[in-house]
Amino acid sequence: MTGIKMVDLQAQYVRYQSDIDENVLAVMRDGAFIYGPQVAELERALALRYNVRHVIGCANGTDALQLAFMALELPQGSEVITPSFSYAALAEVLLLLGLKPVFVEVNPVTFLVDLGAIKNAITPNTRAIAPVHLFGQMASMGAIMELAHQHNLFVVEDTAQSMGSQYCFNGEHGFAGTIGHIGTTSFFPSKNLGCFGDGGAIFTQDDALASKLRMLANHGQKVKYQHDIVGLNSRLDTLQASILLAKLPHLFEFEQSRNAVAKRYNLALKNCSRIAIPEKNAESSHVYHQYTLICESHALRESLKAYLGNNEIPSMVYYPIPLHKQKAYAQHVDLPITDDLCNRVLSLPICPELQESHQDKIIKTIQEYLEQSQ
Ligand SMILES: Cc1ncc(COP(=O)(O)O)c(C=O)c1O
Repeated sequence: MTGIKMVDLQAQYVRYQSDIDENVLAVMRDGAFIYGPQVAELERALALRYNVRHVIGCANGTDALQLAFMALELPQGSEVITPSFSYAALAEVLLLLGLKPVFVEVNPVTFLVDLGAIKNAITPNTRAIAPVHLFGQMASMGAIMELAHQHNLFVVEDTAQSMGSQYCFNGEHGFAGTIGHIGTTSFFPSKNLGCFGDGGAIFTQDDALASKLRMLANHGQKVKYQHDIVGLNSRLDTLQASILLAKLPHLFEFEQSRNAVAKRYNLALKNCSRIAIPEKNAESSHVYHQYTLICESHALRESLKAYLGNNEIPSMVYYPIPLHKQKAYAQHVDLPITDDLCNRVLSLPICPELQESHQDKIIKTIQEYLEQSQ
């Protein structure tokens, strides 16, 4: 038995090796490494798949967020409401651009940004809401869009962890990243659709924003050596696009396998005392980028993690420190739910390649630990 991994990138490569190798070799033979035809082909394929007018490839998911906020041209100091229980990229980008992240609470069982908290955080300086579709499912976009319309705010969806999940509630429906003004995603290797390095993309239904985003990602130029706006070098590599094109036809299969893994965890762990299985937002489908438990206490989380580690089972804490308590982005706000989650969450291995025997071992080890440590 090979070792258990959080995500098994090698096994995935072996599964699709012939298609991936063929695509990569074709790029090397053609030599069109920058903006080769595979980039536009991937953009078209994603646009079709997710029913969005424009997809713009870029260098990574963090740049996608930076480009999104550059395109919106918000006044300096504008407030952007975003959850504190999240990855650092959004906070970092907002601060770099002279904008102010306003950190708010998440729902304690779905981990998604809390609607009431967004409402309470709106001030005359608020210009945007940036929900993060964390761990594989979407925040309540219907209500978020309604709030945004009422207050004339932009919505930028960070869908780095949830590309492919679908919102369907009260007449509002759409894929992650396609409901707000701009959606951003990441093709970081461990993402549900991952490349072999860095990669990202931006989604929008708005033609004018799309045209600006395309320029921003390529040094502010539409025509070579004619720089109309200050941009970035944030292009998606042709090689990465070619790898993504080989994997994209299998993405639905990946999502189904992840759901099957989550279902097995749910069935086996739902009645265990002292841990809670993750809950679904009824308004969204789930692509299970992460499978995250909530332990009864910080002590239990730490001891369970150590026990799993001693049995050669990896687990991760997403995220150990909330954004409002990070040195770089610190804010004096009281977010007890977020603090509590950071102390008690534990993510288990989940990926399409996770073998059933490995999952059985993970489940058995958790059950065994919970029983013996009563
Ligand atoms: C929620 C979220 N946003 C943004 C990013 C940034 O993506 P990248 O690593 O491609 O810059 C990540 C990556 O982990 C993420 O999880």
